[in-house]
Amino acid sequence: MAEQRENWSSRTGFIIAAVGSAVGLGNIWRFPYVAYDNGGGAFMVPYLIALFTAGIPLLFLDYIIGHKYRSAPPRAYKKMVKSAQFIGWWQTLVSFVIAIYYAAVIVWAGSYMVFSFGQKWGEDTTTFFVSDFIKHTGDLNAVFVPQMFIGLILVWALAMLIMFGGIRKGVELANKICIPLLIVLFGIMVFKALSLPGAAVGLNAFFEPNWEKMKDPNVWLAAYGHVFFSLSVGFGIMVTYASYLKKNTNLTGAGLVVGFANSSFELIAGIGIFAAIGFMAVSTGQDVAEVASGGVGLAFFVFPKIISTMGASGDFVGFLFFGSLVVAGISSLISILEVPISAFQDKFDWSRKKAVTVIGGVCAAISIVAFSTGSSLVLVDVIDHFANNIGIVAGGLLSIVSVTWFNRQKIPGLLDHINRISSVKLGGAWVFMLTVITPTVLTIALGLKLIDLVREPYEGYSTSILLFFGWGVVVFFGLGAFIMTRIKGRYDDEDDKSRLLDDAR
Ligand code: ALA
Repeated sequence: MAEQRENWSSRTGFIIAAVGSAVGLGNIWRFPYVAYDNGGGAFMVPYLIALFTAGIPLLFLDYIIGHKYRSAPPRAYKKMVKSAQFIGWWQTLVSFVIAIYYAAVIVWAGSYMVFSFGQKWGEDTTTFFVSDFIKHTGDLNAVFVPQMFIGLILVWALAMLIMFGGIRKGVELANKICIPLLIVLFGIMVFKALSLPGAAVGLNAFFEPNWEKMKDPNVWLAAYGHVFFSLSVGFGIMVTYASYLKKNTNLTGAGLVVGFANSSFELIAGIGIFAAIGFMAVSTGQDVAEVASGGVGLAFFVFPKIISTMGASGDFVGFLFFGSLVVAGISSLISILEVPISAFQDKFDWSRKKAVTVIGGVCAAISIVAFSTGSSLVLVDVIDHFANNIGIVAGGLLSIVSVTWFNRQKIPGLLDHINRISSVKLGGAWVFMLTVITPTVLTIALGLKLIDLVREPYEGYSTSILLFFGWGVVVFFGLGAFIMTRIKGRYDDEDDKSRLLDDAR
């Protein structure tokens, strides 16, 4: 007998959870370096275009599909169009893979929260992170890193505990604790950063546009990939979260609140971090460009250096910054995990307990084994790049074109569903965006990226690393999704009947 589908206690509970999901490592760790690497202030142009032409419209589409069909992505898409189950599984597997490395970045942040007291990273922060802490050798290695092992056990134990609690007593409650905590921690940290001498120098660098960069298609793909990652769209999270909403919920209103909160947080994070970088540049007599290296290192190489220049009060700033990363990370990790857990509950009629134990357990085991080694940096870098730029973007693109190109007859029903219950109504502009603008831009950007990745090995990694952890992950999404659609689910027959009825209407 199936468990009854859970729901949020209220619309506010849902909004808090959706903001908790959206605001994550993407905002604090990823956005500042992605923006800086892709044209600084000029990145705001592709970012905002990506947000309004794709991020928000896709957020609404995710909401409608999750809410109308009341299921995790595979079953929700299947209830809409039979063959679209593949898209749901693709997105689910993207989430599964992201959860595996996302936990490792939370452990890096958690460790740095502890290292902040006494500023354990010493003078050479890069060597400390790369060699002393994560035992990176430039290639894959199996050196055991006990600190990562303990950290991963703690993060996974906490995540599983929350997931066992279910939607209201687990996910919603965790978010109601994490979000206020995050606002306090991060608010104080940004305030402190802005009051440092030299803050304006960093902000100038952050906002100074490099228009040349905008001619580069990679910058556009980075903007779309980042907006999707940051808003938690295109990889099943918002479909899943919306499936737990009650029948009459103002969906567009909630979406706008979530989108606005997420982008504001992102911008504030960039401002806080670059203000601190400006302080560092001024106090050491360097250029901002010399201080701010791009890439994953921005948070872990540069920030500790900044903290060190603050003297003893830096300990507290470090605790605030890395603590914020941990809190934001946990509330997003549980949303990412919710996707495969809910998908397997739907498919095989598993109880929540069983789905959390099996799916959460497998995810945790892989994460702990792979990331307790000296390979964590290589794995995070490669998997994040491919899962984001290809996995998420393709997942979003597939879901958009499956509706707007191949099943246009579904659009009136979807519009009717959201407009009946929402304050802001969707209409021609939304349809046009998702039929013409978004698919065109995403197809071109994705196509060019694929060519780029084939031509030039990402970051110069060896072919075997890229084949296994880059392209291999993409093959896993496709092949895994294909296999999962072939396996018969508990509700397949029932869903086929209800879809036929729906189509006949
Ligand atoms: N949306 C989440 C983040 O920004 C996944 O980190």
